Amino acid sequence: MLRLKNVSASYGAVSALRDIDIEVGAGEVVALIGSNGAGKSTTLRAISGVVRATGGSIEFQGEAITNLSPEQIVARGIVHVPEGRRVFPKLSVNQNLTVGAYSPRAHGKEEATRKRVFELFPRLYERRRQLAGSLSGGEQQMLAFGRAMMAQPVLLMLDEPSLGLAPIIVEEIAKGIEYFRESGVTILLVEQNAELALTLATRGYVIETGSIVLADSSDSLLDNPQVWASYLGQQEFELDAASQPSETKELATP
Ligand SMILES: Nc1ncnc2c1ncn2[C@@H]1O[C@H](COP(=O)(O)OP(=O)(O)OP(=O)(O)O)[C@@H](O)[C@H]1O
Ligand SMILES: [Mg+2]
Repeated sequence: MLRLKNVSASYGAVSALRDIDIEVGAGEVVALIGSNGAGKSTTLRAISGVVRATGGSIEFQGEAITNLSPEQIVARGIVHVPEGRRVFPKLSVNQNLTVGAYSPRAHGKEEATRKRVFELFPRLYERRRQLAGSLSGGEQQMLAFGRAMMAQPVLLMLDEPSLGLAPIIVEEIAKGIEYFRESGVTILLVEQNAELALTLATRGYVIETGSIVLADSSDSLLDNPQVWASYLGQQEFELDAASQPSETKELATP
C-alpha cells in the first residue's frame, strides 16, 4: 500500500534521511523506532509532503505521491497525527472533531464517526463543549486521535502518541490504535516507546541517523539483543534510575 524507495530528505545542508526503504501492506500496523534525532518524524513529514524528498520515490496505492502537496496527499486518505498533539486550543472538543471531517472523503460520515469517537473515549464526550486548550495532555492526545478518525484515514501515521503520558492514558491510546486496526486502517506508528510500538505492530523498522538499520517482525525485534540494548534495555534502565532518586541513596548512606 505504501512504498518508500531510496528516500532522502534534508533540512538545508543537514541531511536527515539517507536512502530509506519502507513498505507497509494494506491493513498492517508497522512500527518505526529509533532514538532522538534519528529521522522518524522526518520520515512521516516526507510521506505527508510537509518535507520535500530530495531523492527516491514514495508510492501509495500503486501511484507516485512523491512531492505532491500536503493537501493532495491528505485527499488520498493519508492522515498524519504529528508530534505534540496539536489541537486547536480555542475551539471546543466538538469543533475540533468537526475540523477533522473537512475533507471530501469524510462527508456524510461525520455524525456516525463522532458517535464512535465518543464511545471510544467517553472522557471526550463529557468534555465535548470544553475548549481543547483546557484539556489534559492525555485528553488532547485522545482528541488528536478522534480528529484523525473524523478524517476517515486509509493510512494513519502517528508520531509518538504515547510521549509523556501516564500508563493508564497510554492504555487508552493503545485501545484507539487497536480500534483503527480492527476497522482495517493501515498504520505507520512512530514511537520511542519501542516495547509499546512492537507490541501493537506486526513488523518494525529501526532507524539510526537517517538510515534504516533493521527491518524485521516485531517478535524478532523484541528478541534481538541489539534492539534490546539500544531501545528496550535502555528504557528499563532509565525507568529504574528514575524510580531511585539520588536523595534515597544519600539517605541510605550514613
Ligand atoms: N526543522 C528542522 N530544521 C533543521 N533540522 C531539523 C529540523 N527538524 C529536524 N531536523 C534534524 O533532522 C534530524 C532528524 O530529526 P527528526 O525530527 O526526524 O528526528 P526524530 O527521530 O523524530 O527524533 P525525536 O525522537 O526527537 O522526535 C535531526 O538531526 C534534527 O536535528
Ligand atoms: Mg520526532
